[in-house]
Amino acid sequence: MIMQLSSFLQRFNEPETLKMAKLGRELRAKGIDVVDLSLGEPDFDTPQHIKDAAVKAIHDNWSHYTPVPGFLDLREAVCTKLKRDNNLDYKPEQIVVSTGAKQSLANAILALVDEGDEVIIPTPYWVTYSELVKIARGKVVEIKSMAANQFKISAAELEAAITPKTKVFMFSSPCNPSGTVYSKEELAAFADVFRKYPAITILSDEIYEYINFVGAHESIAQFDDIKDRVVLINGLSKGFAMTGWRIGYIAAHADIAKACEKVQGQFTSGTCSIAQKAGVTALTTDLRPTREMAEEFTRRRKRVLELVRDIPGIHCPEPDGAFYIFPDVSSYYGKSDGQTTVTNAPDFSMYLLNNAHVSSVMGDAFGEPNCVRFSFANSMEKIEEGWKRIKEALAKLK
Ligand SMILES: Cc1ncc(COP(=O)(O)O)c(C=O)c1O
Repeated sequence: MIMQLSSFLQRFNEPETLKMAKLGRELRAKGIDVVDLSLGEPDFDTPQHIKDAAVKAIHDNWSHYTPVPGFLDLREAVCTKLKRDNNLDYKPEQIVVSTGAKQSLANAILALVDEGDEVIIPTPYWVTYSELVKIARGKVVEIKSMAANQFKISAAELEAAITPKTKVFMFSSPCNPSGTVYSKEELAAFADVFRKYPAITILSDEIYEYINFVGAHESIAQFDDIKDRVVLINGLSKGFAMTGWRIGYIAAHADIAKACEKVQGQFTSGTCSIAQKAGVTALTTDLRPTREMAEEFTRRRKRVLELVRDIPGIHCPEPDGAFYIFPDVSSYYGKSDGQTTVTNAPDFSMYLLNNAHVSSVMGDAFGEPNCVRFSFANSMEKIEEGWKRIKEALAKLK
C-alpha cells in the first residue's frame, strides 16, 4: 500500500508530555512500578457535587447536540465566575466554551494567525503553544527567560521582540512548566507596552488560576484599555480536577468570540452536554474543594522543594503557582553511570525512566533544554518514593 499522509503532519510534533505518559504506561504494562512525575493533571477526583450535577443532567436527558459556543447557562456561569473571582465584566456572547482549554487555544490561534505572522512566546512555555502556531503557519518568536529571574521576562524584553509582523503575544500565568506568576505591577508594565502596539492580540492562559502559592490571581484583562485585545483562556481541568470532562473557555471581544465559534463549528461543534451542565455547578458553587486541593499542592510543593534541594547539582527555582518544579539539571550533562551518558534533557529524562523508573518531561518540549519538568500532582507517598529513586540514580552519574 502506498500511504500518502499530508504534509500538514510534518509541521508539528506530538506533545512530549503525552509521549512520556505513554512510555511510562508501557513500562507499567510490563509489571514495572513506575512513579509518574510527568503528570499534568490533579490526582484528585472531581468533587462530588459536580459529579451529582452530571448524573442529574443524564437523567434530565441533556443528550442532544449543544450550541456551538456552549449552553447559555454555562456561558452565563463563566461570566458570573469572571466577575466573582477576577472582577471582570463579560457578556455571554463574549464566551466560547470548548473541548478543553487546548481547543480554546487552537481556535484562537487559527482565528488570529496567518502564514508568516509572528507570535511572541516567552520560554519556557506549554508544549502546545509553539505547535499550534506552526499548524497555523505562523512564526514562533521566543523570548528566553532565565531561572535566575524566576523565568520572568521584562516589559523591555517584550517590546524588543515586537516587529511589524507581530500578531499575537501568548503566555500563561501561573506558567506551565515553570510555575511563574506575574504580579499586577508586572502585567501593568506589559499593558503599557501593548498600548503602543494596537494590532497585537494577547492570549492569556489562566488555567492554573486557583493553584497559586503567592496570593490573588491577576489577569492582564483587568487593564480596561487593552481588555478588548485580550483573549482570556481558562477551563475546569486543573482547578476542579476535571481534566477528562473537557471544558475550557475563552472570554474575548465579541468579534474574536464569533471567529472562534466559526472555527469550532467545523471542527467539533459544541462540547459534551453532560460536562457542560456539570460545569455550571462547578463555576457557580462553593470553591471549598478547589481551595482544599490548592492547600494540598502547597504542602507537596514545600516537601518536593526540600527533597530536590537535597540533591547536588540541581538548581530549582521555587514555583509560585501550578503543580510543577522545573529545575536546571544541566550540571549532569556529560556524566555517565558507566553504561549511559547523559548529554541533554531528553537523555536525563530517559535515564531516570529506565534507571529510577520515574517519569518526567524534558525541558526541550517547553523551549528550555537545560531543565526538566517534574510534577507534584501525585500523592505525598509517591513524591517521596520518586525523589528517593531520583537521588539514588543521579548519585551514580560521574
Ligand atoms: C498551560 C496550559 N494550558 C492549557 C492546558 C489545557 O487544558 P485542558 O485540559 O483544558 O485542555 C494545559 C494542560 O496541561 C496547560 O498546562
